[in-house]
Amino acid sequence: MNTFSMTGRVALVTGASRGLGLAMATSLAEAGALVVLNGRHEPALVEQADALRARGLKADVAVFDVADATAGQAAIDSVVKKHGRLDVLIANAGTTVRAPIEDWKATDWDAIQGTNLRAPFLLAQRASHYMKKQQHGRIIFTTSITGIQGRATIHAYVSSKAGLAGLARSLSAELGEHGITVNSIAPGYFETELNAPLLADKAFVDRIAGRTAVKRWGKPAELGGAALFLASDAGAYVTGQQIVVDGGLTTSL
Ligand SMILES: NC(=O)c1ccc[n+]([C@@H]2O[C@H](COP(=O)([O-])OP(=O)(O)OC[C@H]3O[C@@H](n4cnc5c(N)ncnc54)[C@H](OP(=O)(O)O)[C@@H]3O)[C@@H](O)[C@H]2O)c1
Repeated sequence: MNTFSMTGRVALVTGASRGLGLAMATSLAEAGALVVLNGRHEPALVEQADALRARGLKADVAVFDVADATAGQAAIDSVVKKHGRLDVLIANAGTTVRAPIEDWKATDWDAIQGTNLRAPFLLAQRASHYMKKQQHGRIIFTTSITGIQGRATIHAYVSSKAGLAGLARSLSAELGEHGITVNSIAPGYFETELNAPLLADKAFVDRIAGRTAVKRWGKPAELGGAALFLASDAGAYVTGQQIVVDGGLTTSL
């Protein structure tokens, strides 16, 4: 028996038109899941879903802004209506603003908390409604090593990601008896569009690479294994955890 098989499973991945969300969705689709890709821009999602289908994999799209709670909950309802179930929610979409403390605006703070922390909670709330009926579910949040270690200027981001790891623990405590696990994955530094401003700074790129044990940045596909482990039967007894995937950045001096 292949405990990593996702055949017959349905997964919704937010922020999956590119970057880490797309990589995690691809990993689940390659293991047999039907993956529903979310983002705010339909053409990019359709292009990625078509690319997966062209490889014989199963994919659909759900266009909505995760900050819009009503739209998110309606999207979950419609995934279940269309595909009959929802086994996996990967609440991955996230955003940041970089500014010294004196320049931070309350509106930016609220917007980041809304996308990074409030939205995953409300999506998990709706998803768990269906997962409880199935007595099976996997909820996975994308956090960040900055939620563990802290980093100047990205205050709302760091606090939202630290909060999200806590939320995975509180949800796991409540939902475990229904066959639902809740975990988070904390990536280190990966080569994605979110990090474009950082990737443009060669000194920073080299400094981060030098601080990892493996001496390089992560490639998005390298997050897929952790997502598949947590989403599949292989991870059935793992819950409330935050799995760090950072090439050893936080474990080496
Ligand atoms: N890259 C890293 O090194 C790293 C490290 C630690 C944690 N993370 C976390 O990993 C997650 C993904 O990051 P990434 O690097 O893959 O980012 P990315 O390359 O910028 O991709 C972000 C994805 O999220 C979608 N998105 C953004 N805001 C959204 C919203 N409000 N509603 C729905 N979709 C939205 C984007 O599509 P649209 O713009 O079309 O909506 C896109 O598909 C984030 O939570 C981030 O904080 C990343």
